[in-house]
Amino acid sequence: MRSIITGTHIVKTYGKGAEQANALNGIDVEIAEGEFVAVMGPSGSGKTTLLFALSGMDEITEGNVRFGDTELAGLRETALADLRRTRMGFIFQQPTMLRNLNLLDNIMLPAVQDGKRNTAELASKARQLMIQTGIAGLEDRDTTEVSGGQLQRAGICRALMNTPEILFADEPTGALNSKTAEEIMELLVAINQAGTAIMLVTHDARVAARADRVLFTGDGKIVSGLTLPRFSGGDLEARGEKVLAGMAAAGI
Ligand SMILES: Nc1ncnc2c1ncn2[C@@H]1O[C@H](COP(=O)(O)OP(=O)(O)O)[C@@H](O)[C@H]1O
Ligand SMILES: [Mg+2]
Repeated sequence: MRSIITGTHIVKTYGKGAEQANALNGIDVEIAEGEFVAVMGPSGSGKTTLLFALSGMDEITEGNVRFGDTELAGLRETALADLRRTRMGFIFQQPTMLRNLNLLDNIMLPAVQDGKRNTAELASKARQLMIQTGIAGLEDRDTTEVSGGQLQRAGICRALMNTPEILFADEPTGALNSKTAEEIMELLVAINQAGTAIMLVTHDARVAARADRVLFTGDGKIVSGLTLPRFSGGDLEARGEKVLAGMAAAGI
């Protein structure tokens, strides 16, 4: 398998002098094309920092990160921003949407910012994604007139607008009830099965149970990992048990 992201000896230090602390303490990690990797660990163990480091959202202090064959640190800021916008997608616990735009326009926004692309074509792509994610009909809604689950679906649409090769998701189900979380996970699994790699941070064993691999973090390191057979819909309980056992072994 070719790797899409390779992180080598990543160190991330925040602060200066006596305040200095390592959020990441020498991390080696590789994500294969199309792979689904979950990241679990205690609060403050470096999960979000790792996601930011691997996606080039944040500069690292030591080590390096490659996207395919491209070293992120070697790119100018605009080239890095282009790479992030066109080849990566991001989903957060709560999608930040502009309140003065309707759902459709919010979904299109990052793609429209490209400037050189055809707006009608983008609108048609956005509408198609809204159908796929089950929120067709909400195009004209205000972002305050939809449920948390619908808003997260819109966030997923927005992340998929440029057909990314990898989706980074930081606790995407963290603010949702368990039924809605399950629906969002079904959607993410379908996206992954269509070929998009996923790196997803979660506290929920049942969410991580869909992954090919679970990485457990502690004090800025990856303390252990768990490999699961490729998920094909069934077996969620047994997979969840394995994840829980992995968490216990990692002291989470
Ligand atoms: N911008 C920042 N400035 C200073 N310290 C930070 C910053 N972001 C994160 N940290 C620290 O880095 C460590 C890892 O944080 P984070 O990656 O957010 O953990 P997690 O996502 O696992 O909860 C924590 O100790 C946190 O306090
Ligand atoms: Mg976090």
